[in-house]
Amino acid sequence: MFLLALIMAKFEQAVISGAGIGLRSQHYQEILADKPEVNWFEALTENYFGDGGLPLHHLEKVREHYPITLHGVGMSLGSTSPVDHNYLAKLKRLIERFEPAYVSDHLAWVSVDGHFVHDLVPFPYTEEALKNFVNNVMQAQDYLGRSLLIENPASYLGFDCADMTEWDFLREVVARTECDLLIDVNNIYVSAVNHGFDALEYIKALPPERVKEIHLAGYEDHKDYLFDTHGYRVHPPVWELYRSALDYFGPVATLIEWDTDIPGFNVLMEEASKADQLMRAVA
Ligand SMILES: [Fe+2]
Repeated sequence: MFLLALIMAKFEQAVISGAGIGLRSQHYQEILADKPEVNWFEALTENYFGDGGLPLHHLEKVREHYPITLHGVGMSLGSTSPVDHNYLAKLKRLIERFEPAYVSDHLAWVSVDGHFVHDLVPFPYTEEALKNFVNNVMQAQDYLGRSLLIENPASYLGFDCADMTEWDFLREVVARTECDLLIDVNNIYVSAVNHGFDALEYIKALPPERVKEIHLAGYEDHKDYLFDTHGYRVHPPVWELYRSALDYFGPVATLIEWDTDIPGFNVLMEEASKADQLMRAVA
């Protein structure tokens, strides 16, 4: 039985460091043909939930050459509904097949009672919501047999009934579930401008030893608010904040995240190279 398990385990558990790039279908052919010098790729979990087909085939080929992480939007950990075991079963199969370095999802909800919204929806940071979120994270971690990384969202509205900050909420989630954190520095910057809080205060409130991954992306400036589109190069103030975050967290593996108006792969490589330079400076 043990021998069989060894034979079936095609990949070893991935370990990542340095800058990585979000894996997008537009770049599959280029990546597989050229094998560019990229430290690791982040795959969007739900894109690979099929039983077969081209996406899984491409991911298999990419994984033969690169470590990966799995980043999801569908676990809906902030929902008052229990975590969907169908979803977890599919995720577990992917984890066993691809041995990602990390598995992450968001501080948000996307479905309740089987009804889905096609966005990551925030919720008020209250003690009641905290207990609910913690319960869902623990259920998911128990099922998957590994810890999750939880990512902070970009936000545009607050709730009058909230009785703690987002960073206090995240810190409590970590303390109660022993999960780790994926800190999106662009999201902190966007939320800080939109709500008027100090982005550095947020970063310094987090436990650095639990921050395993960082995201960087580009926002859209709507003058009276910033909108997180993942459709631009990383803006200068976010690079600046990233530099401060590295001082505090250390050279944590960092992803260049780009989801709309996806550019040529060379642009993503340039952004990843900038992140690598800053990480080397800190290291
Ligand atoms: Fe992100």
